[in-house]
Amino acid sequence: MIDRNPGERIISAAARREDLEADLTLRPRRLSEYIGQQKVKETIGVFIRAARERGECLDHVLLYGPPGLGKTTLANIIANEMQVSIRVTSGPAIERPGDLAAILTNLSPGDVLFIDEVHRLSRPVEEILYPAMEDHAIDIVIGKGPGARSIRLDLPPFTMIGATTRAGLVTSPLRDRFGVISRLDYYSETDLTAIITRTASILKVEIDPEGAGEISRRSRGTPRVANRLLKRVRDYSQVRRGGAISREVAVEALEFMEVDPLGLDEIDRRLLRIIIEKFNGGPVGLDTVAAAVGEEADTVEDVYEPYLMQKGLLARTPRGRVATAAAYRHLGINYEEKAGGADQGTLPLR
Ligand code: ADE
Repeated sequence: MIDRNPGERIISAAARREDLEADLTLRPRRLSEYIGQQKVKETIGVFIRAARERGECLDHVLLYGPPGLGKTTLANIIANEMQVSIRVTSGPAIERPGDLAAILTNLSPGDVLFIDEVHRLSRPVEEILYPAMEDHAIDIVIGKGPGARSIRLDLPPFTMIGATTRAGLVTSPLRDRFGVISRLDYYSETDLTAIITRTASILKVEIDPEGAGEISRRSRGTPRVANRLLKRVRDYSQVRRGGAISREVAVEALEFMEVDPLGLDEIDRRLLRIIIEKFNGGPVGLDTVAAAVGEEADTVEDVYEPYLMQKGLLARTPRGRVATAAAYRHLGINYEEKAGGADQGTLPLR
């Protein structure tokens, strides 16, 4: 199975370490090397240049969008372009306000603090961030009871970069403190083909444009998936087809991995099939779908559904998830016969 989200899915520790090490050298280091996300690149490029010209640090940046689109890569690029260090952490990793206070007080002037999954910060931790982001200061309470007093500690100026797959879950006081808010979107086939070609050249894999195009079409608009598929197609070709990647070899390898022409893998197809076959096409609640495919509801919502929706295979309705006519067609199931055709919304829930 393809691991498209290394933080959350189970693959062997050794394989993961190898992939992570390789990923680090594959990642672009400069904005000019970053392919796609034209609008975000232009916007951030302007703000970086303005801040540098004034000798100031960049305002706080919130990056949001589906997993695997390059939020962490962009944060690293921003730090690199600003010529400052980056400190990387994540919402769930910061358990207590004191943990965040320790990180903040150890920053050097101008540093980037990158907080992934920023929507998962706890309330007390978030409250430390507000004055830190706004006034470059934190308020620390010393002691307990009547003798307790609060002291204000000044912090060096810094840039906070928050990343989230769930912009809607970022509280408004936190969101309001970001000066730049950028949304990353799925990549076009052309951009993904360019990314795959770039990665192949770093990995010294021989690939022709048609081979790269075939992998890009099945990469769910996501560079992380594209690079991972490329590595596995490389493995396949090395063992069975002499190492080079043409369209024919790519198709064969991707079929071997059960990645279909739309880029759906076995779990995506199982998810749609369950909605269609067990729940008459829907509507069915998220938790029920997640339990039926054996995944966390959050993973289904963040990782699987956005792409299925983008491809018009799944719809979210107030009453639950619905498989569209296109999903039936994609899976080769007769729509009229199975869903009764016309109005799925009025079908009884089973
Ligand atoms: N590798 C992963 N994402 C990339 C991007 N957006 N540009 C260049 N290389 C990448």
